[in-house]
Amino acid sequence: MLLGSGELGKEFVISAQRLGQYVIAVDSYDNAPAMQVADTREVIDMLDGEALDAIVAKHQPDLIVPEIEAIRTERFYDYEKQGIQVVPSAKAANFTMNRKAIRDLAAKDLGLKTAKYRYATSLEEMKAAVEEIGIPCVVKPLMSSSGKGQSTIKTEEDIEKSWNMATTKSRGDLNEVIIEEFINFRTEITLLTVTQKNGKTLFCPPIGHRQERGDYQESWQPSGVTPEELAEAERMADLVTKELTGAGLWGVEFFMGDEGVVFSELSPRPHDTGMVTLGNTQNFNEFELHLRAVLGLPIEEITLEQAGASAVILAPGDSAKQNPIYSGLEETATIPKSDVRIFGKPETRPFRRMGVAVAFDKPGTDMQSLRDRAKEVADKVKVS
Ligand SMILES: Nc1ncnc2c1ncn2[C@@H]1O[C@H](COP(=O)(O)OP(=O)(O)O)[C@@H](O)[C@H]1O
Ligand SMILES: [Mg+2]
Repeated sequence: MLLGSGELGKEFVISAQRLGQYVIAVDSYDNAPAMQVADTREVIDMLDGEALDAIVAKHQPDLIVPEIEAIRTERFYDYEKQGIQVVPSAKAANFTMNRKAIRDLAAKDLGLKTAKYRYATSLEEMKAAVEEIGIPCVVKPLMSSSGKGQSTIKTEEDIEKSWNMATTKSRGDLNEVIIEEFINFRTEITLLTVTQKNGKTLFCPPIGHRQERGDYQESWQPSGVTPEELAEAERMADLVTKELTGAGLWGVEFFMGDEGVVFSELSPRPHDTGMVTLGNTQNFNEFELHLRAVLGLPIEEITLEQAGASAVILAPGDSAKQNPIYSGLEETATIPKSDVRIFGKPETRPFRRMGVAVAFDKPGTDMQSLRDRAKEVADKVKVS
């Protein structure tokens, strides 16, 4: 049972179908991308614990695979007690659905290097926190993803605006924000990490990425980091995934700055920046790795087969539309060593991610030219 049926879920389901699995795809709206390739579907509000209990009782899944954070994850502990495998674990899903739980675990319990941070539950508390952290600083709702409600405070006048942004865009019932020191990073990476039921923890070659409006725009693999930085990131990813327990693929995010490697956050599931692996950059892409790890198939090694880059295909920024139409695919087909995915979302929203383009070439290829090529392909696809 897949909880969340977006584009990452869709690729995961395709991997699962290739190994003969039966998949129930769940989301809050019908015809979501993963539903189009699953065996059956359920449309429910996944923050509603009773609705969740009802479909789990109805289908009796062997595995529950969350694809998003906005789920009543407290219920997961109960499902584990019933003998259902929650991926990667109820603990991991619960700790990562709230920035506070995972940040305190990483910084306080495990001693990982993170940006300095404070929490605030009112504008007054936030002003005091900004004073302590210093300007510039980054403000985020405790429960949100894809940069929603996130802003950077550059002057004191921004404080109230940031508070309002974070508290109106917060998901769930929580009116608390995190205030983080602004990290002036040279590059940021996702370290895809695979924990196994029986076998050692493996790491994919690091993925570099660039974000805009809090959302990923392009990613590339491998990303240029020093061997020392990579070793430190791997050490931290190993520690935090072991602590959260369970088997699966995780997207562990780091900033590479002047002060060394800084842990940012992690997803206990495939990561959007990891879509670059759809360009066959590795022996298994991130969705195949997640599937193999959760099924308990041993993964012997992860190898870099090609260098790759991905660039997102976004909906126009003006309005929301039903049944979008795509053009320009013929033109993308003339660009060698590239590929395109259209997710098949039934509706656009401003800047919604509708597809992704990938470009790939032999290892050692100039990464900037690969990134340019992925962007060129993405730009040829028009959504209307
Ligand atoms: N403390 C920070 N300093 C500098 N940039 C940051 C900081 N926190 C977040 N960012 C930028 O915003 C992006 C999204 O933040 P993140 O914490 O990963 O939120 P989300 O859960 O929405 O992905 C990051 O990938 C990074 O580019
Ligand atoms: Mg992130």
